[in-house]
Amino acid sequence: MRSFSLQINKLTLETPLILAPLAGYTDLAFRLLCREYGASLCYSEMISSHGLVYRKSKTMEMTRTVSEERPVSIQLFGADPDIMGEAAAMLTDLPIDLIDINMGCPVRKVVKKDSGAALMKNTWLALSIIKKVCNSTPLPVTIKIRTGWNHDTINAPELAKMAEDNGIAAIAVHGRTWSQGFSGTANWRLIAQVKDAVTVPVIGNGDITSHVEAMAMLNKTGCDGIMIGRAALGNPWVFRPEGRPDSLSMRMTGLHRHLQLIAIHSNPEKILAKIKNHSGRYFKGVAGGSAIRKRIYDAKSFTELLEITDSI
Ligand SMILES: Cc1cc2nc3c(=O)[nH]c(=O)nc-3n(C[C@H](O)[C@H](O)[C@H](O)COP(=O)(O)O)c2cc1C
Repeated sequence: MRSFSLQINKLTLETPLILAPLAGYTDLAFRLLCREYGASLCYSEMISSHGLVYRKSKTMEMTRTVSEERPVSIQLFGADPDIMGEAAAMLTDLPIDLIDINMGCPVRKVVKKDSGAALMKNTWLALSIIKKVCNSTPLPVTIKIRTGWNHDTINAPELAKMAEDNGIAAIAVHGRTWSQGFSGTANWRLIAQVKDAVTVPVIGNGDITSHVEAMAMLNKTGCDGIMIGRAALGNPWVFRPEGRPDSLSMRMTGLHRHLQLIAIHSNPEKILAKIKNHSGRYFKGVAGGSAIRKRIYDAKSFTELLEITDSI
């Protein structure tokens, strides 16, 4: 296996495994948990540049971070270069390490406003945003892209090169086009082509569910880091070589720590549905898991959820 080192400007990452941005999931508590379990860097959920510039309270809350979670990347989305620049300047005052630009979100309401994956087909706008953001902050700026808009317009390698030439410090590539959504499988050949096109670090992404798969993607594509999204939900062990334990009590230990972090860093009773969604995922595929999941979904309060984790 080739030796590993992931350096994004002055930031050195201890391992190649990175938590992907997941809207609705990668909040401060979950990021801290993943850092504790071995993720070398975590990305925030995508944050609206408009919401930030207009100081909407929900958006401001999403930028909350603590120094223990560093290194952390805050991801911005938007389509107005000036607003994106202003938002990046605002983020610069936070104790963060990277600012990422979302160029991959496939959700219709985002794409309809020319943000997210729509930037893959509007490279002129993508370039204006990159320039504006890079000129508005001394922090390293990264992008997260897809392989292209659709099968006929694959342009990730060209876009990556253009981004590098304009100051982007690293590039994460989800190996699917916009039109694929989450169907099919991630295309490793295109991730390798992006790696060949640039000298800045490339982070491969898509469908990785274990350490073994992550190492295979690193070796086969030549990329420098691996970003893990869905497989980390209810499974922070994915960042460890040994992977997720089979025992119910070990799974409970993971959830218990997650709930502790939620209690410290948020107002749990206000986000009970979201916490249950996270919690149920810890018991996938484990004996006795479905009974625990039922107790979780029936819980009426955060205190009741904590009691479930204390009872095993
Ligand atoms: C629920 C959910 C939310 C996501 N939110 C974001 C986001 O905020 N920003 C982003 O760039 N990608 C987002 N993604 C895409 C992931 O970061 C990642 O690229 C994708 O899930 C593929 O990686 P995986 O197979 O490891 O999950 C999201 C994906 C899911 C399933």
